Order: sequence, then structure tokens, then C-alpha cells
Amino acid sequence: MGKFVKAADIDEVKSGSMKLVETDGREIVLCNVDGTYYAVDNICPHLGAPLCEGDLDGTDLWCPFHGASFDVTSGEVLSPPAYENLTCFPVRTTDSTIEIEVE
Ligand code: FES
Repeated sequence: MGKFVKAADIDEVKSGSMKLVETDGREIVLCNVDGTYYAVDNICPHLGAPLCEGDLDGTDLWCPFHGASFDVTSGEVLSPPAYENLTCFPVRTTDSTIEIEVE
């Protein structure tokens, strides 16, 4: 079993919103899609934009720089100019926190 780290307090990340989580020198964006949480790399594989500053539309995360989009449920790239998928991280919730498995 991997190492889970606290990403947020429960209810801190509202439905349709995101939060940047920095842990172990890595930037991860935590997304709330209709009450289900997903976590993916925060850095766009195209030219390094911070995806937490983009737009979350359902399960689609849009890069703020050049408009690439990704599916936060799988990390799959959906539209160019990015061509590499994002790493996804397992998420779990406890009574009071949202946690991400980072290794
Ligand atoms: S940096 Fe994300 S699409 Fe260019």
C-alpha cells in the first residue's frame, strides 16, 4: 500500500473546483467533479502551465496557456497541443480529510 498524504479538509474543495496540492516536491491538482475527487499532475506536459489555473468543466480540465484538455478521471489528453497524458493519483476520503496516494 502506498503513502497517503492529506490534500484538503473535507468540504474544502467544492464541486466543480480545484486545489493545488504540493507534496514531496510534486505539484498535484485535486479536482471535485460532482462530489467525486480526482488528482492529476498539475504541470501541463505541453509547456508547463499550472493546470490548477485552468478551467474544470465536468471531467475536462483545460490548460490556461494554450487550451489543451485532459480527462481528470484517467489523465488522458483529449485535445492538442499537449500529447502526453497526465499521471493520476488515487484519492480517498476519511471523515475529515481528502487524501492522495503519492507513492
Ligand atoms: S502549456 Fe498547456 S497547452 Fe500549452
